[in-house]
Amino acid sequence: MSRAHYYVTTPIYYANAEPHIGHTYTTVLVDTLLRWHRARGAETWSVSGTDEHGEKMVEAAAKLGLPPAVFTERISALFQRTWAELGLSTSRFVRTTDPRHVANVQRALQHVYDQGWIEPREYEGLYCVGCERFMTERDLEGGLCRDHERAPEPRRETNYFFAMSREFGWLRQYIEEHPGFIRPERFRNEALAMLRDESGLGDLSISRPKSRLDWGVELPFDRDHVCYVWFDALLSYLTGAGWPDAPQFPARWANAEHLIGKDILKPHAIFWPIMLKALGLAPYQHLSVHGYWTLDERKVSKSLGNMVSPLAMQERYGFELFRYFLLREMSFGLDASFSEATLVERVNADLANNLGNLVSRTLNLIEKLCGGVIPEAGPAGAAEESVARDGEAAAASVEAAMAELRFHDALTSIIGYAGAVNRYIDGQAPWKAVKQPGGEAVVRTSLHFAAQHIRRIAELLAPFVPGLSTEILRRLGERGGRVVKGESLVPRLEAPAAD
Ligand code: MSP
Repeated sequence: MSRAHYYVTTPIYYANAEPHIGHTYTTVLVDTLLRWHRARGAETWSVSGTDEHGEKMVEAAAKLGLPPAVFTERISALFQRTWAELGLSTSRFVRTTDPRHVANVQRALQHVYDQGWIEPREYEGLYCVGCERFMTERDLEGGLCRDHERAPEPRRETNYFFAMSREFGWLRQYIEEHPGFIRPERFRNEALAMLRDESGLGDLSISRPKSRLDWGVELPFDRDHVCYVWFDALLSYLTGAGWPDAPQFPARWANAEHLIGKDILKPHAIFWPIMLKALGLAPYQHLSVHGYWTLDERKVSKSLGNMVSPLAMQERYGFELFRYFLLREMSFGLDASFSEATLVERVNADLANNLGNLVSRTLNLIEKLCGGVIPEAGPAGAAEESVARDGEAAAASVEAAMAELRFHDALTSIIGYAGAVNRYIDGQAPWKAVKQPGGEAVVRTSLHFAAQHIRRIAELLAPFVPGLSTEILRRLGERGGRVVKGESLVPRLEAPAAD
């Protein structure tokens, strides 16, 4: 039987700002899912990258007096270095300025054009030169542009439109018939609501005249225009999977999952499936949508200048603990608020006091009472059977949680399991038993089972906190070999100074 495939993507990040907590969260989710599916025998593939065309890049580059190509090259390298430093690797990193990607965008545009999905239309409106764009009612006050306080001029320009609206009915039915297509459900409902209220949608303008913006992919059928940045960026999911020629492309595409934040639902839920249809490709399998990290209840983003840098978090706490916090604190699909104080509390409660303590005390007792070698067990009694059931229940709930991307629930179950093992040791009290006549069997059995459960816990934790998991397994040592006590597994963190 051929192996199952799993293909997962992060969004292609805009190359105009440094990596922050929002980018880091999605990238951590993708890394976790890859490890999860790999452990289940799937052949995995993943894509991340940088979105480098469009007006935003030109503006950001101009502020630094740099050509856009030089500017985006720098930021793209920064993203790549950051993920490498944090151990978050992807199979392919696509820059939308890669010649191979540019060729794919042109191939896709030509195909869609040849199939009659694209047509030029005259666009007429009020254009503000200061803003370099057409104004809407909302941009004007007393007939003047709000930002530039000057009258916009009437202009006509040709725009190429992708005839997206003809497929709204099809898409609506597809979403209705495939409940897991867009998840969690609130976002599926949101996409359906967008399709119901077609006034907000219409056809998609996919071109910008070069006279206005020349930093983009040229339309192959009209060299005076460049491609709209979203049309270009979404195609990176195909470029990264080896479209059109890679022999592995069909298997990857048939098992594709996109992870995104909720602000980019519309292009992924509406534009993208219709673009795929126009290209003769099936829709992706899943669009999985997460909420925002907020700081003081505001969205963390570069424009607010209050971003949380993953490298700073790594330096302060170690990336593993930050990663644990991201996965444990956010309910997938909902917003969560970030603060260092909550991170410290969460890590101390779950990892230092519960899991870390379990590992240290067990290894210390094995060292002290059993010469540092995990003992053989006597027969399991009621207490052993009960904690074994806790372990099985935890493994089953991790499985169920991961099928629905409830990362936080998966971790809650694993930490709950560590709590059950702690209580088991408390109940058996091997440090007391050793002093009692005949207590030897209790010592051996309880420490044997405790070590076995710790191994199981480490295995369950592997996709979420791979470094911590490996470290626990290392300390348990080879089967039959000596355990390694080591320093405290997760030292208690100090509460951050209030500012
Ligand atoms: N370039 C587009 C994506 C194109 S995909 C074909 C883009 N880039 S982005 O850099 O602005 O955002 C990338 C991702 O980061 C998005 O999924 C967005 O939701 C996520 N986040 C940005 N700020 C965030 C938070 N504060 N919290 C969680 N994620 C958020 O959009």
